[in-house]
Amino acid sequence: MNLFRKKLLTTSQSNDQSLNRVLGAVDLTMLGVGAIIGTGVFVLTGVAAAKYAGPALILSFIIAGLACVFAALCYSEFASMIPQSGSAYTYSYVAFGEIFAWILGWDLVLEYGLASSAVASGWSGYFQSLLTGFGIHLPTGITSAFNPSKGTYIDLPAVMIILLVTLLLSRGVKESAKFNSIMVIVKVAVILLFIAVGVWYVEPANWEPFVPFGFSGVVTGAAVVVFAYFGFDAVSTAAEEVKNPQRNLPIGIISALAICTIIYIVVSLILTGIVPYNMLNVKDPVAFALQFIGQDWAAGFISLGAIVGITTVLIVMMFGQTRLFYAMSRDGLLPSKLSAVHPRTKVPLPSTWTTGLLVALFAGFVPLDKLAELTSIGTLFAFATVSLGVAVLRKTRPDIERGFKTPWVPLIPALAIIFCVYLMLQLSAFTWKGFVVWLVIGLVLYFSYGYRHSKLNSTK
Ligand code: ALA
Repeated sequence: MNLFRKKLLTTSQSNDQSLNRVLGAVDLTMLGVGAIIGTGVFVLTGVAAAKYAGPALILSFIIAGLACVFAALCYSEFASMIPQSGSAYTYSYVAFGEIFAWILGWDLVLEYGLASSAVASGWSGYFQSLLTGFGIHLPTGITSAFNPSKGTYIDLPAVMIILLVTLLLSRGVKESAKFNSIMVIVKVAVILLFIAVGVWYVEPANWEPFVPFGFSGVVTGAAVVVFAYFGFDAVSTAAEEVKNPQRNLPIGIISALAICTIIYIVVSLILTGIVPYNMLNVKDPVAFALQFIGQDWAAGFISLGAIVGITTVLIVMMFGQTRLFYAMSRDGLLPSKLSAVHPRTKVPLPSTWTTGLLVALFAGFVPLDKLAELTSIGTLFAFATVSLGVAVLRKTRPDIERGFKTPWVPLIPALAIIFCVYLMLQLSAFTWKGFVVWLVIGLVLYFSYGYRHSKLNSTK
């Protein structure tokens, strides 16, 4: 058995399967910010401050941000070296061989697919509170995932937003990117509004005591808010739709992450400065903070911004999932139908609709609160593996041209691995068990299908 067969680097794909190269550095930065700012900052900051970090939430954001910055520097090298759809999955195929590529690809379904379902539930929550604001109440049965004891059967708003996003994605990558850019401008404007209004109400007394739950609380907080940074890597799944990817991908990944890191640090400082941390355990902390200081008009804008913002996360995360299925199918590890591309729009339609329907099914029917942490463990695992891959390929394949080089190898990859593994260790035993079960299911699928159908079988 040849489980470690590696993918060779080819730059061109056969024409009928190739995608449209239309995205530039600005589109990519917008896609990155689109994927990054969402439920993490609009929802999770509250619980992270109230239960774990207190006013030291800013330190949690800095620790989580460092993990992601180190990983992003590694992603950038790979993206400039192997600009192909599939991101970390494809990188592992080149660096470590097929079995690892499959594990990573399967793992990334947790980041893009499962996260999309979880994010859609968050969207539904914000959307319903907006409707309530207008005096509209949906029938209980359609407001949340299947849970007959609570009288709920389907989260219909979540299903609807997913289907709308799928429709958008199936129209073409340029259209999706354009729509995404407009919405990103709205959400960043809303966050800047929060900063501009909130900064005048900061009471330094609220920052005392600064670390009420000790350093361990800060680190647990970091493991919660790291979710807020996920998505910068989704940019790299667009590699085959980017003009001059060797240059533009690193610019897109690093600028998007840099912008969001600065925003998060400022937001966490202001949030904990205007509201006593122990009052922040609400599901809309950013809007709540503005209500707390009597700025209800601005709070309304924040809710709208959150809905728009979470929509862009869905657009980019689901986009990432469609390109992942496309890449895995093109390599033969998933059924070949999934890599068919529409001749005019150049969109991989079957993988787009498969993604849309699966994500809708999960978000609509499965109560995800317990499963959402799986996204974090899966993503951090991918970050650590990619970082290891950069260091390994510097030794084994120094010949490949790199448009961008991660500085200080192996120090930066080592730091990325240490930070990511450390954050993974903060997650619950339940999450670890779920992760192992997920990987085992993946391996069963690989041995029953992927191994036999891999394209590398015919090129051995
Ligand atoms: N970073 C994305 C969010 O916070 C996943 O929603």
